[in-house]
Amino acid sequence: MAEDILSEKELLLKAVKSFEKEFGVPPKTAACAPGRVNLIGEHTDYNDGFVLPMALPLLTIVAGRKNNLNRCRIRTFAEKGTDYPRFAEFVIPSESPLKPGVPKWANYIKGVVSLFSESLVPGFDAVIISTIPLGGGLASSAALEVSTHTFLENLTGKFTNNNQMKALICRKAENDYAGVPCGIMDQYISIIGGTMLIDCRTLEFKRLPEFKNTLEVAIIDTNVNHDLTRKEYAVRQSQCRKTADILRKRSLRDTTIDELNDAKDRGRLDDVIFRRGRHVISEIERTKSASDCLFSGDMITFGKLMFDSHTSQSNDFEVSCAEVDKIVEIAKRVNGVLGSRLTGGGFGGCTVTLVNRSATSKLIEEVKANYSGTSTVYIVNPFKGTREMVLDGFTTDL
Ligand code: GLA
Repeated sequence: MAEDILSEKELLLKAVKSFEKEFGVPPKTAACAPGRVNLIGEHTDYNDGFVLPMALPLLTIVAGRKNNLNRCRIRTFAEKGTDYPRFAEFVIPSESPLKPGVPKWANYIKGVVSLFSESLVPGFDAVIISTIPLGGGLASSAALEVSTHTFLENLTGKFTNNNQMKALICRKAENDYAGVPCGIMDQYISIIGGTMLIDCRTLEFKRLPEFKNTLEVAIIDTNVNHDLTRKEYAVRQSQCRKTADILRKRSLRDTTIDELNDAKDRGRLDDVIFRRGRHVISEIERTKSASDCLFSGDMITFGKLMFDSHTSQSNDFEVSCAEVDKIVEIAKRVNGVLGSRLTGGGFGGCTVTLVNRSATSKLIEEVKANYSGTSTVYIVNPFKGTREMVLDGFTTDL
């Protein structure tokens, strides 16, 4: 059986009740932001390439109110977290920016509070509640940054309709406060929602047609996270930079497989950075082709591109692991599966699989029978982007 996903309304109710329990009064404002699954286009965003993410009905909600103090008091109820304590309190300094510290989860919030706008954010109390598995490669940190930003917009009345600027602020919060040199994909899709082809150089995006209802998108969480993501992510990024520099290109987006092969033949690239470059260049091409397939309805080729993407991530970019490879292999053997691959930063987390609806239960059965760890399966449809949640007249009887 696939996991039941709490609806937006159920999650909001939980947030309201949790806030009342924690602070003794009801919250006055709330905002939600979705996680994402990347259908194809992995490790291409920080190479100025294309990505094809879908916003998920897995959400993070920030609910709260001003507290007339110069401090923020926040309780998290996000699940599966290992980062304690669950309560964070920090003073908003009048001059210098906030400094990152512990607990680590609060750094995403501190980053957004610091970068929010020219003027100071007032003190507030808030709860965080989420259905996005933490560290599962489904962009839980971006959803926290984006929901915090939208929450602060409601709290201060300083609304922005500049989605690109908002995404860049949230990304900077992650870069500077959580120390992760991530690209723009996760924050951007969490803001704009839907299923999009995003050009990460220009930040232009194209809304993609929905899948036919005979198809389903299954996310399978391996429930492992090898904790290498942070370190290895930065290593991959500098390897890509180095390859582009050797080729004298602004980024890997601006080069071709022929140029890469030529540089290898002339002894200018060692095997490792050659393979890193080959993944990124071929993945950018696959992502553009996958988008064309969605428009032409060629889902067989779309699925094949997903499998090819996985092989490239596993062999050339080396960001997969045994558990993820195992689940992709299991999926590949199921009749009715069109494509499957690792999604997100890597070293554990989730796979994404495109499957004929009639074969979904077989897929789940095979994973449960043949994967030795515990897996969690979500069947998902695209969700809208971040937004304010209406609390006025919100009733706690569902
Ligand atoms: C993480 C980062 C993204 C992107 C992916 C890999 O999710 O936050 O910016 O680089 O990894 O595609």
